[in-house]
Amino acid sequence: MHQRPTSEQLFEDAKQYLPGGVNSPVRAFRSVNGAPLFFERGEGSHVWDEDGNEYIDYCCSWGPLILGHAHPGVLKMVSDTMVKGTSFGAPNKLETELARLIVENHRYIEKIRFVNSGTEAAMSAIRLARGVTGKNKIIKFEGCYHGHVDSLMVKAGSGLATLGTSTSAGIPEGSIRDTIVLPLNDEAAVEKAIEEFGDDIACIAIEPVPANNGLLLQDKKFLTFLRETCDRTGILLFFDEVISGFRLAFEGASGYYGIQPDMIAMGKIIGGGFPVGAYGASSKVMDTVAPDGPVYQAGTLSGNPVAMAAGIAQLKECLAPGFYKSMEQKTALLSSLVQDFADRENLPFKIFHIGSIFWLSFSENEHVRSANEIAEGSSERYKVFHDALLQEGVYIAPSSFEVGFVSAAHSEEDLRQTAEAMTRALAKAYGR
Ligand SMILES: Cc1ncc(COP(=O)(O)O)c(C=O)c1O
Repeated sequence: MHQRPTSEQLFEDAKQYLPGGVNSPVRAFRSVNGAPLFFERGEGSHVWDEDGNEYIDYCCSWGPLILGHAHPGVLKMVSDTMVKGTSFGAPNKLETELARLIVENHRYIEKIRFVNSGTEAAMSAIRLARGVTGKNKIIKFEGCYHGHVDSLMVKAGSGLATLGTSTSAGIPEGSIRDTIVLPLNDEAAVEKAIEEFGDDIACIAIEPVPANNGLLLQDKKFLTFLRETCDRTGILLFFDEVISGFRLAFEGASGYYGIQPDMIAMGKIIGGGFPVGAYGASSKVMDTVAPDGPVYQAGTLSGNPVAMAAGIAQLKECLAPGFYKSMEQKTALLSSLVQDFADRENLPFKIFHIGSIFWLSFSENEHVRSANEIAEGSSERYKVFHDALLQEGVYIAPSSFEVGFVSAAHSEEDLRQTAEAMTRALAKAYGR
């Protein structure tokens, strides 16, 4: 039985000084039982909490650690770089090296601007879309998350209201007036919005693999439809690839589906575990960004050498032949072992997976492509499941709406052990 008294005490201490004891809300374990784990260290696919308990980790820092924890190549490049100074606020050659590595291996990006988070990347891309087109409105989709940007923290309004409602206090109505929120995978809804507002729409923003509200895998046909619609109307297609970028393939979901967006936001994996985001596009679009163009965007620590070094070391590994295929196979193995058990036991449960992303859906729905198809009550089962998995020594994200990530460091033994643990946890969650 894993006991976690030290984590519990550390959480009590943290709550005195940090709102909710955390610096990002979902970490507080409000959607599952118990106190959050305080991690002391990680190595490869494993992490250890401050009580000395060991876990196989499928959160992987919410996606960035595609090579696992404390990868020796990343650590070496980081330490070699940081001893020479941690920040200069002046150009450094590592920025160009990371940019070159990406541009030379990504058919849809000609220039890239580094920022410090996925939120900043999405926010800057939206400004760029407006600057390039001279238009104001943006279309986003219910169930897609693009960071905590005012104009993107919006959900669909009720009934016939065209205006969405903000998903946080502190966002003025004016900030969301130009955001149109539509259901995913619904061509008719997009057509109707364009008929109504088409003259003033700057971009359609979408996570091409929506992975922040469950894994809402879209029909490729829908993404192609968005591309064609944008071609027809001059609206820019903006893929938020903060999760899917360098995860589904080096070229992200754009490469995976072979669909060219006009702008791409990146984050997570690009920084090798350090705070990096980026947005990229054709040279023509990117030349609109300051200082070449009129769209202002800046950052004191943007292009930080230590963070660039980590990104370079990590992305170089991702370019190894067979890298993505192997991770896809690992994820398929884990998924099939668990799914087989659920099917044998007739449990209303499905693992959705793509590349090295998986999501546990506690319902019998064969397809979950939009936010409203997620079964009610799944969160209650997830709580029991999550608790049981921690006891088994497996760490997954503390919310039923979050996806899991397999890293290159997960061994077949890890995956088989995890599958065994998951089957026992599933049996508990379904009261078997
Ligand atoms: C698709 C997507 N966009 C943007 C963000 C925001 O990134 P960050 O948390 O680095 O600000 C996230 C974070 O999970 C994300 O998944």
